[in-house]
Amino acid sequence: MNAMRAITVIPGKQDSVALTDMPEPPEEDGPVLVRTRAIGICGTDLEIINGEYGTAPPGQERLIVGHESLGRVAEAAPDTGFKAGDLVVGIVRRRDPVPCPACAAGHWDMCINDRYTERGIKGRHGYASERYRIHPEHLVAVDPALGVLGVLLEPATVVAKAWDHIEKIGRRAAWAPEAVLITGAGPIGLLAALLAVQRGHQTYVLDLVTEGRKPEMVRRLGATYVHSGDLTEAAAEADIVIECTGFIQLLLDAKSRHPRYRIICLTGVSAVGTESVIDPGLLNRNMVLRNSVLFGSVNANREHYELAAKALAQADPRWLADLITRQVPLDQWPDAYARRPDDIKTVLGFPDVSP
Ligand code: BGC
Repeated sequence: MNAMRAITVIPGKQDSVALTDMPEPPEEDGPVLVRTRAIGICGTDLEIINGEYGTAPPGQERLIVGHESLGRVAEAAPDTGFKAGDLVVGIVRRRDPVPCPACAAGHWDMCINDRYTERGIKGRHGYASERYRIHPEHLVAVDPALGVLGVLLEPATVVAKAWDHIEKIGRRAAWAPEAVLITGAGPIGLLAALLAVQRGHQTYVLDLVTEGRKPEMVRRLGATYVHSGDLTEAAAEADIVIECTGFIQLLLDAKSRHPRYRIICLTGVSAVGTESVIDPGLLNRNMVLRNSVLFGSVNANREHYELAAKALAQADPRWLADLITRQVPLDQWPDAYARRPDDIKTVLGFPDVSP
């Protein structure tokens, strides 16, 4: 086997996405060979295929995409801790070469010099190929009972990190948060809500839609769905807010919506140039006079993968299964990258070849 099929793009070039033949993964990528089973698709992938984001590995024209992955180990040396048949997920980010203090401590999600790389996104091939190689340090075993639901691990790590940091910030003083508001009922918002409910918080999820799968998923969690035009007092006064849309206007512009000490975590990424009507003076007063915290959170380190794996293992598998609204076989890959209104998570399925 000298070539394998992979979904690739020429970064920066719109409509360059294609199913192409790419060379087999090089040995130096690591001692574990994994066969890809499934790839989850998110907004970042769509930005990359639109030519707005992403970089190829040095000296190469094309980037293999795919950072949300699920695979099965095909071959692994005995000292790797993995064996053929294990269900696994590859970590996305790699530490920068310096490395900065954060990367040196394994906190590559907090890299301070921006020289980190990310598989399928920034300077490193992703997982949307029939096979990939990897070092065990960057591979996480998934409970086999999860099956294809293991593909939800990477998005769950993003919210596991957000929760980890919210709780770390919260420990700066005595605090007993009760209500949580999540903005956005996409996969990140719904997974953030899952972790909120698992922590016993009164949880509100706000989105634009009025019917369909998203409000239903919120209710099935035991959380309250709030239509964005209809923000209730209770939701508006939440102690913790996790923003999962990239549209932060709603959170920052109205005094009545920031009534007390609050931790706001931004996980959504907005387009540059978004028009703003935020009053910086009011924002300042709201933050300072209430000891509030507004912070951003991206990516995840190995600890967050472990936390996310636990959260998924404790979740109702039927609820997790309903987050995956479409599974598209590799032969029909263009369909996987086309957005449909009631999509939550679309998954691209790779042929199931046993190891
Ligand atoms: C991924 C993160 C990544 C971020 C920025 C997200 O879609 O889940 O792992 O750090 O994009 O590239």
